[in-house]
Amino acid sequence: MADRLKGKIAVVTGAGNGIGKGCAAMFRAQGAHVIGIDLNGSSDVACDLTDEVATQVAFEQIGAEHGKIDVLVNAAAFAVFEWLEAMSYEQWKTTLTGELDIVFLATRAAWPYMQASGSASIINFASANARHALEGSAALAHCAGKGGVLAMTRQLAMEGAPHGIRANTISPGFILTEATRRHMDAEPALKEKVLAKNMLKRLGEPKDVAWCATWLASDEARYVTGADFAVDAGATAW
Ligand SMILES: NC(=O)c1ccc[n+]([C@@H]2O[C@H](COP(=O)([O-])OP(=O)(O)OC[C@H]3O[C@@H](n4cnc5c(N)ncnc54)[C@H](O)[C@@H]3O)[C@@H](O)[C@H]2O)c1
Repeated sequence: MADRLKGKIAVVTGAGNGIGKGCAAMFRAQGAHVIGIDLNGSSDVACDLTDEVATQVAFEQIGAEHGKIDVLVNAAAFAVFEWLEAMSYEQWKTTLTGELDIVFLATRAAWPYMQASGSASIINFASANARHALEGSAALAHCAGKGGVLAMTRQLAMEGAPHGIRANTISPGFILTEATRRHMDAEPALKEKVLAKNMLKRLGEPKDVAWCATWLASDEARYVTGADFAVDAGATAW
């Protein structure tokens, strides 16, 4: 079946790479009209989503053209991985901007057009790091950011419900993307640590996450809001 998202207007942030790119491709294959947003020209709309004014303008343009937004996937993010002793305050703030502000600004800008949809779905990305600490991973600020995404999405679900807006998180485990491949190349022991935690002894791919996002975006998930979905090979289940 290739029409699970037929007729839906979907905005995917971070669509230039990794999980966002995988979601955008699968949503298109399922019949959605997808508008990808990323920093550079690798997407339909170029925008720095930590720039409040630019983000507002980008969504107003999308809203003016399409009249509504049915699906918002907040996949754009950036983080600094560093141990507590070595992390500067600037790196800490950069990570919270890149994981929390970026979701807040896009969601606030999309909100009136999601209200106009009457049946909208927000998909945010928390992380296995919001649920557990992975030995060997310098993820302090990232854990704080993703714990924040998890909590704010429940609040969004409550605020969105009267407007027909659902909001859920996906918490991926380790997913192979260009960025995570670089982490792994720099620290070969990381792969063994990840696989030791994974019940299923393989690494994830963007499409493993995109299948979950497709379901959450579709009307099949119409009774699902305020929930979190681990797509992590069982890493956080033990
Ligand atoms: N890959 C993983 O293993 C993994 C695991 C858990 C959670 N996640 C989360 O899933 C989401 C997607 O992760 P990914 O691995 O695909 O990331 P990625 O780094 O591969 O891609 C993120 C995209 O966001 C874009 N972006 C960054 N800053 C931006 C800005 N200011 N404005 C606009 N675009 C910007 C980047 O250009 C990039 O294309 C993130 O929230 C990430 O934290 C990923």
